[in-house]
Amino acid sequence: MTAGESHGKALVGILEGIPAGLRVSAEDINGELKRRQGGYGRGGRMKIEADCAEIISGIRWGRTLGSPIALVIENKDWANWSSAMSADAKDEGRGEPVTRPRPGHADLPGAMKYATHDIRDILERSSARETAMRVALGAVAKKFIKEFNITVGSYVLQIGQVKMERPITASAEHLISLHEKAESSLTRCPDNALTGKMTELIDRAREEGNSLGGVFEVFAAGVPVGLGSHVQWDRRLEAGLAQALMSIQAIKGVEVGAGFSASALSGREVMDEIDYEAGRFRRKTNNAGGIEGGMTNGMPVVLRAAMKPIPTQARPLKSVDINTKEAVSAAYERSDVCAVPAASVIGEAMVSLVIAGAMAEKFGGDSMEEIKRNYNSYLEYLKDF
Ligand SMILES: Cc1cc2nc3c(=O)[nH]c(=O)nc-3n(C[C@H](O)[C@H](O)[C@H](O)COP(=O)(O)O)c2cc1C
Repeated sequence: MTAGESHGKALVGILEGIPAGLRVSAEDINGELKRRQGGYGRGGRMKIEADCAEIISGIRWGRTLGSPIALVIENKDWANWSSAMSADAKDEGRGEPVTRPRPGHADLPGAMKYATHDIRDILERSSARETAMRVALGAVAKKFIKEFNITVGSYVLQIGQVKMERPITASAEHLISLHEKAESSLTRCPDNALTGKMTELIDRAREEGNSLGGVFEVFAAGVPVGLGSHVQWDRRLEAGLAQALMSIQAIKGVEVGAGFSASALSGREVMDEIDYEAGRFRRKTNNAGGIEGGMTNGMPVVLRAAMKPIPTQARPLKSVDINTKEAVSAAYERSDVCAVPAASVIGEAMVSLVIAGAMAEKFGGDSMEEIKRNYNSYLEYLKDF
């Protein structure tokens, strides 16, 4: 759970369910926060913020206690907004109301639903600033699943029309190498030449007062067979993963494995045939993206998410003032031109949180020692299956 407005005092987050005895430091969390702030195409806000999480509870002497983990990230920009975003009634009116809703945002439906004529009441929370806390909580989840050798990574495959093609099937090592290459790319694209084209495209959009979307891929490698379940709709792992990715602001589509492209192929081309070698069931292909019947099958979990272009435009779109009902230009708040690279880091956090939940559900345990014992005994059992 997270709380916090974009220009409020701070973001707050609580994560429950991590067993006792996991080593977590503020540096683990802050490293992930720094990754989210990067990426070509961000606006001025990211130059103001240098996100840093303070651990409030749930961790003692560098180890989790099994109690809820609470984190706080201060908004540096709060200094400029302390009256406009004050909790105190005496400050009411110290900040111009926002009355020109931006198309593509929560602005208009939010104002109508929550009965406000100041759209700031809505946009402050609908902003993707909130995802900084998701990344912080996701960093703890990522650290937890790493204890079971699960690696979650991501890279950008597309910005606007510039697209990197990659075969659906790839080994865990290959996916990890794509992630590592993406770490040093300005757009998180593993291909250097395409990174250059993407930055050019972003520059052009910025000059034109326009914005861009794109596609990123997130994978989880090293996931054991049997996370999630076929027995109930809400226990199917890809359902939880899709929700987690779709919940990121501006994500409008999610694919698992071959995804939409599978629909145009024949069954023979799409199903991942099973063989058995050296005491292991294996697949030569991974069109399923590591999930069959709602459960992980031991292959890397591979998901793709499509992000629409950023709604706020420096050359504003047409809108209507909610008070006067006159045609106006939409409000302009300092804005990103493209945030696909940041969204891919947020995607990693969301996937880590879902996989961590599924691991905790399947293997249980109040301490890391207990959950590892349960996990290892499951691996032993699988050897004899
Ligand atoms: C990392 C990230 C940064 C974003 N930055 C901006 C921004 O600067 N300006 C903007 O208008 N939208 C931005 N967005 C997108 C909006 O938050 C999003 O489109 C909006 O909340 C409307 O919700 P919906 O697109 O999910 O329907 C960003 C999204 C993400 C994931």
